[in-house]
Amino acid sequence: MNPYLEVAVETAREAGALLLAEFDHPAKISYKGEVDLVTQADRRSEEAIVTRLRTRFPKHAIVAEEGGGSESDSSFRWYVDPLDGTTNFAHGYPCFAVSIGLEEAGELLVGVIYQPVTGELFTAIKGEGAYLNQKRIHVSKVDSLATSLLATGFPSVKRTQNPNIHYYWDFTLRSHGVRRDGSAALDLAAVAAGRFDGFWEFGLHSWDTAAGVLLVREAGGVATRLNGQPYRPGEPEILASNGLVHAEMQRVASDIAERARTAAPF
Ligand code: IPD
Ligand code: CA
Ligand code: CA
Repeated sequence: MNPYLEVAVETAREAGALLLAEFDHPAKISYKGEVDLVTQADRRSEEAIVTRLRTRFPKHAIVAEEGGGSESDSSFRWYVDPLDGTTNFAHGYPCFAVSIGLEEAGELLVGVIYQPVTGELFTAIKGEGAYLNQKRIHVSKVDSLATSLLATGFPSVKRTQNPNIHYYWDFTLRSHGVRRDGSAALDLAAVAAGRFDGFWEFGLHSWDTAAGVLLVREAGGVATRLNGQPYRPGEPEILASNGLVHAEMQRVASDIAERARTAAPF
């Protein structure tokens, strides 16, 4: 196995086991912002991940959501979301994951997303395809928005400044539906596995999308910005799809943006 993937998988499984143990107890919630939760589980999971990555790759840079990472001159950079879906976790809704992505010189190299409740382990290596529990996965073959199932999410900060409600309404009317399950990493993994045909969101961070974007691309899909420009983790918005509905989603997004600009504030 690729040594980076091997370590990412071990690390995600260790963190996933910690999350499951914490999930059995009432969550100890604190707040980073008005509705931006953080639990003891986020912190414990991040500590375990960062410790293991540092031990194995002491020179690599680590960008981790709860601040445990560190910069370095290395061309290798890990993106760590120790618990994607904290709000779900804190409410006992079993939809959350560990997400670990590795980039070398700005190119995504390895991605792992682990959902400990279901045991689903999504993995990808650049140029070598995407896998779910070691079985190759591919994006769906749905080729029209009208027959697609989509997903999106809403941020826990600056909700009132987020235009997504306009997009949610419009895409819901034009598709079989839009799911909003509270874990961007699992949404992207679901696009890679052909469960969702498209996904978009505003305001995600590099740790939310690094692993998922590689999964989507390696499963035959496409990830760009909403206007079709190249997407790199940390861009202000993302559009990921099976590729077949991409242009149609982009066109609709551009119409919505135009209308939202002229709409009364809500
Ligand atoms: C959140 C989830 C959610 C998305 C939010 C993210 P967190 O990550 O990915 O689906 O809508 O924008 O912040 O805070 O649970 O790691
Ligand atoms: Ca996240
Ligand atoms: Ca998180």
